Order: sequence, then C-alpha cells, then structure tokens
Amino acid sequence: MSDKIQKEAETYPLQIQINDTALAGKYADDLDVCRTISCVQPLFLSVSDGVIGLGALDQPKQGIISVDFTGGTMAHRRKYGGGKKSEAVAKACFGSMDKPVIFDGTAGLGRDAFVNAYLGAEVHLFERNPVVRLLLKNGIERAVNSIVTQEDEELYRNRLILEDVSSLKDYHGGVLPDTVYLDPMYPERQKNALVKKEMRVFHYLIGSDNDREELLACARSIAQRRIVMKNPKWAPVLDEKSCVSAVVTKNHRFDIYMPKK
Ligand SMILES: C[S@@+](CC[C@H](N)C(=O)[O-])C[C@H]1O[C@@H](n2cnc3c(N)ncnc32)[C@H](O)[C@@H]1O
Repeated sequence: MSDKIQKEAETYPLQIQINDTALAGKYADDLDVCRTISCVQPLFLSVSDGVIGLGALDQPKQGIISVDFTGGTMAHRRKYGGGKKSEAVAKACFGSMDKPVIFDGTAGLGRDAFVNAYLGAEVHLFERNPVVRLLLKNGIERAVNSIVTQEDEELYRNRLILEDVSSLKDYHGGVLPDTVYLDPMYPERQKNALVKKEMRVFHYLIGSDNDREELLACARSIAQRRIVMKNPKWAPVLDEKSCVSAVVTKNHRFDIYMPKK
C-alpha cells in the first residue's frame, strides 16, 4: 500500500453576515440554501444596506462582489460602450437579428446578459449556483427599484428575466430562444488570476464547470437560430466540426454553432 496519504481538499461553510435584517427576511429561503454551501476558501455573503455581496474572509482587500447594473462599470459600459456591431458578445449573439430572444445558460454575474439586453435583446438568465443566483436576483431587483425612464423600465423589467429553473435543461416554458449563449467557467490560469483580482473570489465559489459538452448539446437542441460559446482564446474549440464561425477579441473567442436539426 502506498504510504502517500491523499489529503482531502479542505472546505469551509459559506458564512452569512447580516446587517440588513429586512433584506435577510426578504431572501430568507435563498439564504437558507446558501447556508448549506461549502467553498474551497473561507467566503462570506454580506447582506447589508440593500445589497447582497460575496467576499473572501481572509482577503478583505479583494473587495465584495455584487451585481450592479445601475452604477460602476456596467452603467458606464451602457452609456459609453459600443453598439451591437462592436460589442463582441452582441456581435456573436445577434448575428443579423435586431432584437433576438437570448437564453443565457450560464448567467454568472449577468454582465454579458446585460450588454445583450441594453443593446435590444430579450435575455432569459439561467444560473445554477444558488449564491450567484441570489446576487443576480438582488442586482435585478435593485435595478427595478431604481427605474426612472421608460427605457430603464423596458430594460430591467422586460429584457432581463431571471428564470426560476436553474438550468437550460430544466426549462419547459413556452419561449423559444433565437440564440443560446454559453460562458462556462474555465480553470483559472496564473496570469489571469493576477489581472482580475476580484474574480478570484468568484472562482473560489464556482471552481470550473466541467459539463460544457452536455451544455452545448442541450443548447443546440433548443436554439432556433444560433448558439454562442465564449472561450478563453487559448482554449480548444469544442466540437470543432460543428463550429461554423467565431468572433475573436484580444483574450476571448465567441464560437458560433448552428442548431441541431
Ligand atoms: C464564467 S461565469 C459566466 C459569466 C457571465 N457570462 C457574465 O457575464 O457575468 C459561468 C457561470 O455559469 C454557471 N453555470 C455553469 N454551467 C451551468 C449550467 N449547466 N447551468 C446553469 N448555470 C451554469 C456557473 O455557476 C457560473 O456562475
């Protein structure tokens, strides 16, 4: 018998820090689910001043991640970013369509979904991690509460729709997506880890998504017009013979597939 002892990966229960009891009451069921989650690093969920955020207990400098569609980077991008011909994600997801219905099967923090939505798509979001789902839910609700213009009303209420089911494969609703967009998590590479500090916390929570083949197959069975899968540029093309084209940026590739007939 080998004397090499395999140490089991240590895990830490997600801690919940509540400073806003009204908000905690509102999301009580979601928080109960989050209490059952273990992480590879000690993480905490902060429920404070109307905002739900995720942070690392031992790395306070990395800050708290939350979903914010109305301020910061996303609002800036909405105001000053490119149109659907220059935002790569929209270029890939819209094709020649003006207002496609897009199912975002890996919604994450909703940034790509938001870009597609403010450029005119009706985006349905699917997210399987309960913590990320709660960040999204809170981000969308805060956006709805901040509505001032008719354009905001249309965007936040009608074009960013968080689905009740967590996964594409469980969707039995009546909407048929023109496009299904996928952006599963890749294992982090050292170089990227140093660049995107705040995203490390997200990686600690999610790890990597290892079911991208199944996800692509599922997407190809429900999309009406196209499927887009975002990959780091270095990653191999999945099911290469079915991939018909790609939109390529400095660090990413948006591989495009056609629906399965
Ligand atoms: C890289 S992140 C997506 C980032 C997102 N595109 C954005 O702009 O914020 C991947 C997310 O997809 C979720 N995910 C991966 N596979 C999934 C699946 N099969 N069903 C639902 N969610 C999935 C993960 O939990 C994770 O939150």
